[in-house]
Amino acid sequence: MSSIATGVGVSTMAAAFTPPAIDGDLTGRHIVSVEQFARPDLDDLFRSTVDLRSRVRSGDQSVLKLCRRRIMATLFFEASTRTDMSFQAAMLRLGGEVVATAGGVQFSSVYKGENLADSVRAAGSYADVVVLRHPEVRSSYEAAYQLDQLSTRLGTRSVVVSGGDGVGEHPTQALLDLFTIIDFKGTVDGLTVTLVGDLAHGRTVHSLAKILALYGARDLRLELVSPPSLRAPVGIIDFVRQRGLEVHETDSLDEVIGGSDVIYWTRVQQERFASEADYEAIARHFIMTPSVLAQASADVILMHPLPRKHEMGTPADHAVLDIDPRSVYFHQMQNGMYVRMALLAGVLGAAG
Ligand code: NCD
Repeated sequence: MSSIATGVGVSTMAAAFTPPAIDGDLTGRHIVSVEQFARPDLDDLFRSTVDLRSRVRSGDQSVLKLCRRRIMATLFFEASTRTDMSFQAAMLRLGGEVVATAGGVQFSSVYKGENLADSVRAAGSYADVVVLRHPEVRSSYEAAYQLDQLSTRLGTRSVVVSGGDGVGEHPTQALLDLFTIIDFKGTVDGLTVTLVGDLAHGRTVHSLAKILALYGARDLRLELVSPPSLRAPVGIIDFVRQRGLEVHETDSLDEVIGGSDVIYWTRVQQERFASEADYEAIARHFIMTPSVLAQASADVILMHPLPRKHEMGTPADHAVLDIDPRSVYFHQMQNGMYVRMALLAGVLGAAG
């Protein structure tokens, strides 16, 4: 997938877009960064998520009316299974429709050399909401700027929701991750949350660390466990420290695993490395196996944004980990759909 054309990417226009605060109302908002959310916005979104989850599970047909006749377009310039499918399923479960270029973006006009702005304009002129995943940081800001310009020109409104922008952010993943922590732990206060793996390139951990800080978690300790070459960006660490989280960096999992309430395991982001040799040098640093999990407490939760590879051991290890009651990554995965339902209903002004 890394070899596909991605369009001529982010122009200086991205700099012209400042993500607006949600400020109590998701309607018509572009969603490009977790920094748009304050605690009351997150509490509202999670209440709506819980409500939609129970209505879907009980077969409540009224959910299908929420986004009837609304259209979501997907533009995925990077590989995806869960983000892409959960957004689509979310829209369908809200009664909406989904469009994408037949055969994926490889068969869109990007293949002919079209730039990102024009692809986004096309999607935004047909659909009410555009979900964008793109390898360049701030590509979703560029999309938001272009869609605002398009709205002025056409008189119709379309918003972008980021499905991940390169090594930047993955805001909707952070929403579902925070939701899952609260779902299982009841709170974020007083927790020790341990993020493990490729903290340099992993956009999910960047967004999760930030959202924990934005939520105003009290007495939360963030343990950042990575090889020295894959430490979290200084900007992220400063951001969370300034907002009161205690942060500790280490390359020793043994030091921190026993005291962790949440363990968030991640994949080494092979596609972000300059060379295969650089990747191989650190690829096998942290491997979660049943014997590693045995060092953790009885009430820890083990999360992973997925996809997983060898960093969760062999398929035989997966089989053991998967039935451990502390492993919640499949719940996390499904929560992604419910959180995205709440978010789509919100931005489309269809909550309720
Ligand atoms: C993650 C991503 O794309 O950043 N996957 C996801 O959206 N669930 C994590 C990863 O690819 O490792």
